Amino acid sequence: MAASKSYGAIAKIFHWLIFLLLAAQYAVGSIMPHIGRGTLNEGWVNWHLSIGAAILFVILLRLIWRLSFPVTLSTGMSRWESILAYATHLILYALVLIMTLLGWAAANARGWDVKLFGIVTLPAIAPNGSSWGHEAGDIHNILVYVLLGFIVLHVAGALYHYYVLRDRVLQRMLPADGAS
Ligand code: HEM
Ligand code: HEM
Repeated sequence: MAASKSYGAIAKIFHWLIFLLLAAQYAVGSIMPHIGRGTLNEGWVNWHLSIGAAILFVILLRLIWRLSFPVTLSTGMSRWESILAYATHLILYALVLIMTLLGWAAANARGWDVKLFGIVTLPAIAPNGSSWGHEAGDIHNILVYVLLGFIVLHVAGALYHYYVLRDRVLQRMLPADGAS
């Protein structure tokens, strides 16, 4: 199938939905109590698992959509700009997916069930008390900052296009934009 030149409504909804869910997840992740031996899966911790499961669900749908309906990068970018933008997008997808899987394993290692929308209990991917599940939690806690770094890079790129290059790349992800 030929790649489209612009993002459709569904791709934009997915983009901004993930943005909102990640913002909520970072907020909850930073106000929830530090997770240790005696921590219970309740309150903000429980919210963190619920939002995390929703992020996993939406990012999988988004990836399926993206692969089914390819979109080309904006034309008119230099070679290094295109490579940087493309690599950043790829890393963002990968990191969000990896973060959710590591968080899921970390939750299971603490003996917590992960539920999707509070209804569907996801199967445990790490046994209760497993050491690799706890290591997954440690990596999860580090990737929190790595993902944040790439988000900052990505947003800086979007603002650079808008304020410095003054092209229409930022508008490509906004509701009103058509092809550009
Ligand atoms: C991309 C999505 C996610 C983001 C941005 C995120 C963010 C965070 C943050 C900021 C913390 C606190 C780190 C600290 O205290 O140093 C954390 C810890 C944690 N998160 Fe997530 N999280 C995500 C997805 C998930 C998912 C899907 C789950 C489980 C279903 C989960 C489970 C946990 C657990 C269990 C911890 C404690 C880790 C440990 O020390 O064992 N997270 N996360
Ligand atoms: C204020 C925040 C944000 C702005 C202004 C923004 C802006 C944009 C723009 C303009 C594009 C289209 C680039 C192009 O023309 O090729 C885009 C694509 C993308 N954004 Fe964001 N973004 C934001 C937040 C995020 C966040 C938090 C994520 C985290 C996952 C993210 C992930 C992506 C990905 C993966 C793509 C590539 C879409 C694709 O081609 O499949 N964005 N963003």
